[in-house]
Amino acid sequence: GVTLLSDYKPYPFEIASVSLIFRLDPAATRVLATLDVTPRQPGADMVLQGEDLTLISLSLDGRTLAPGDYLLDETGLTLPAAGLPAGPFRLQTEVEIAPAANTALEGLYMSNGMYCTQCEAEGFRHITFYPDRPDVMSRFHVRIESDLPVLLSNGNPVGQGPGWAEWDDPWPKPAYLFALVAGDLRATSGSFTTRSGRKVDLNIWVRPGDEDRCDFALGALARSMTWDEEAYGREYDLDLFNIVAVDDFNMGAMENKGLNIFNSKLVLASPETATDTDYERIEAVIAHEYFHNWTGNRITCRDWFQLCLKEGLTVYRDQSFTRDVRLGGLKRIEDVAALRARQFREDAGPLAHPPRPDRYKEINNFYTATVYEKGAEVVGMLATLLGPEGYRAALDLYFDRHDGQACTIEDWIKVFEDASGRDLSQFKLWYTQAGTPKLTVSETYAAGTLTLDVMQMTPPTPGETEKPPRHIPLAVGLLSPNGDEVVPTVVLELTETRQSFRFEGLSARPVPSILRGFSAPVILERATTPAEQAFLLAHDTDPFNRWEAGRTLARQTLMAMARGEGAQLDYLDAVGRLIADDEADPGFRAACLRLPGEDEIAAALFARGDTPDPEAIRVARRKLMKMLATRHGAALSRVYDSCAVAGPYSPDAGPAGRRALRLATLALLTTEDGGARAAALFAEATNMTESIGALNLLVAEGKGQGQLAGFAARWAADPLVMDKWRMAQGALTPPEDAAETVARLAAAPEFDWKNPNRFRSLLGGFAANHAGFHRADGAGYALYADWLLRLDPLNPQTAARMSTAFETWRRYDAPRQAHAKAALARIAATPGLSRDLGEMVGRLAG
Ligand code: ARG
Ligand code: ZN
Repeated sequence: GVTLLSDYKPYPFEIASVSLIFRLDPAATRVLATLDVTPRQPGADMVLQGEDLTLISLSLDGRTLAPGDYLLDETGLTLPAAGLPAGPFRLQTEVEIAPAANTALEGLYMSNGMYCTQCEAEGFRHITFYPDRPDVMSRFHVRIESDLPVLLSNGNPVGQGPGWAEWDDPWPKPAYLFALVAGDLRATSGSFTTRSGRKVDLNIWVRPGDEDRCDFALGALARSMTWDEEAYGREYDLDLFNIVAVDDFNMGAMENKGLNIFNSKLVLASPETATDTDYERIEAVIAHEYFHNWTGNRITCRDWFQLCLKEGLTVYRDQSFTRDVRLGGLKRIEDVAALRARQFREDAGPLAHPPRPDRYKEINNFYTATVYEKGAEVVGMLATLLGPEGYRAALDLYFDRHDGQACTIEDWIKVFEDASGRDLSQFKLWYTQAGTPKLTVSETYAAGTLTLDVMQMTPPTPGETEKPPRHIPLAVGLLSPNGDEVVPTVVLELTETRQSFRFEGLSARPVPSILRGFSAPVILERATTPAEQAFLLAHDTDPFNRWEAGRTLARQTLMAMARGEGAQLDYLDAVGRLIADDEADPGFRAACLRLPGEDEIAAALFARGDTPDPEAIRVARRKLMKMLATRHGAALSRVYDSCAVAGPYSPDAGPAGRRALRLATLALLTTEDGGARAAALFAEATNMTESIGALNLLVAEGKGQGQLAGFAARWAADPLVMDKWRMAQGALTPPEDAAETVARLAAAPEFDWKNPNRFRSLLGGFAANHAGFHRADGAGYALYADWLLRLDPLNPQTAARMSTAFETWRRYDAPRQAHAKAALARIAATPGLSRDLGEMVGRLAG
């Protein structure tokens, strides 16, 4: 079945409170639920979702119901209106479930002997019969019975004894925010006092042995709490905040009220086992889940079509947090690079959908880059249009007006309209339409006046041909020919298909810096010269556009080389100046030195009408790296030597930036020195950033067999670290050997098909191995399809997510397309395919 936005109807019953008793057992857990129900619409049947539940008993106001009193099918339970009282009543159910057999990791499941839950989006229906929809909010009381030492749920502990614990959550919430954890766990604890004086106990719960990797996460939580008070005036609202690390988890983390559950790779960090990037990511995800307490939990979504209401906003908030606590300019560059790599790719292919979709078969398939990252960009545009004070006023109004409610994108837009007095009906298209707008900008200069002519066009996406113009904030600045800023950033507002903007009183023809800070998620097209890009790379005051100029030069050079043309001299020289520019921030220089990836080059070639050749792209990229190393070898060596970071490890932006620059120079040098420096760095590294950084470079050269074996010997007992080793080989093994290598690693005894981190590292790595995955003989596609089919019966949600590796198949030549189509058809034809993967392959082939 398809679920439609237009079919929304309020739930005809109110559930003021729910009490749950869990008698935990791996094979036969009993769940007793008591619902206090008030009918709100006479004559309505009561529908409760429930899947894979064995119904033990059912009673209404104490009277046991017989099978004839209700309807039970594989989606749930219906109590016909005729049998329901007109006033309040109490409904009790008892069901049995088998958490140890739950490999889908949705609902209640087990991970290494501990019980845990994942209920978003529709996992609660695997725990008990309930209206499993976000607009039904209720007070939860939970009793857990188990011999395990630590028993946790949402809210506050209200009682415990040998073999039991009780929890009460004072904040009404939808079922998707329910959580339960039971296990042998150890806490790393701290406390935080909110600015109004509430003392909050903070705990990070992990398996015994992992306690020494929790300090960073605990600090990140306290930093997040402080930031949300300062930036949004939001305080925490319980006396306790628990975070639990779980090894088997489908996503990154989950914002359950007062009991966040995290993938252990996003909690555990030590210098020896986590990279600088891991540290930054951990801090950002801790912040993200914490921020959900207001944007998600206190104000939630009316239905799952509104997912970006909480996710886009919360990603915007976590990105802003990281910009504030680390290096703002660099963070923006990283976020835009990720947006283009994942979301622009999604928007350009068969899976394109609006940030607020209006139909789905399986909601788990819509936890996408479009909902999250584009959703965040849309919030960022609102902030740009209203300015900092206007944005803050709108958010204050949002919290005042909607606290405790389940809301829609319409409610959200209305808040911005009311706070600013502006009409945002055109802006709303960003939420309801798919596709990345293309801006074409040209300019003329005469008599001290620069005129920018801007045209916008959004290409059609599946099911959407009509694309009216959007409301787009375009940040622009002007530089004088000697590099001074003559017009500081102004925000132009585009609302029409074609518009012109004039800048008067200039003394010479300026160089425009357009789309500063990436003020809108669009593709900018403008005829420029390599010399002008090199000028912007050297002089722009906007860090994003400086980087963007270098990126454009690199991409254009690589595209030319992939078509068999020569390298762009302006680019080679500009890189030389950047390497020598010791004034520039090291992290920024590192970002500029990293070449666009092969997938980005393929996308750019396809966008201009070429058929990308994965092999030629790979060869061009490696050739350019070698040319840079040959031309700038001495300067690169100097930077490499001077960027070594001495002293104890710190994940702060300063030292992390120096390590990043060092690895970026090493990547170039390694193409020329036979891997000598990388091998030396690997041998002496005392932190994971440099250890895996050096190993990655060796693997990419088709070398490093000894180092791979050494790494495996050292880290065999640490699957999270070994995931980096699997990822390195999946993503970087030269294409001719990649499929065989990953097939061998997937067959190894320690490769656990039930753990999402394992296959995400290996399969995800291989999907990112552009020339390996898109091998001309189709071996990459075939292998990948085998894996998806193996994974689907165990974990449909993750199998469906991993199938996005196929979203670009239409870019490539006819033989490759035929292989990809055959792989998708083989999946689609498999009997018993999950709804999750079924929907995805249908859309991918579509
Ligand atoms: N709300 C979580 C987060 O982004 C993600 C949960 C995703 N769950 C899912 N079943 N897709 O913070
Ligand atoms: Zn989220």
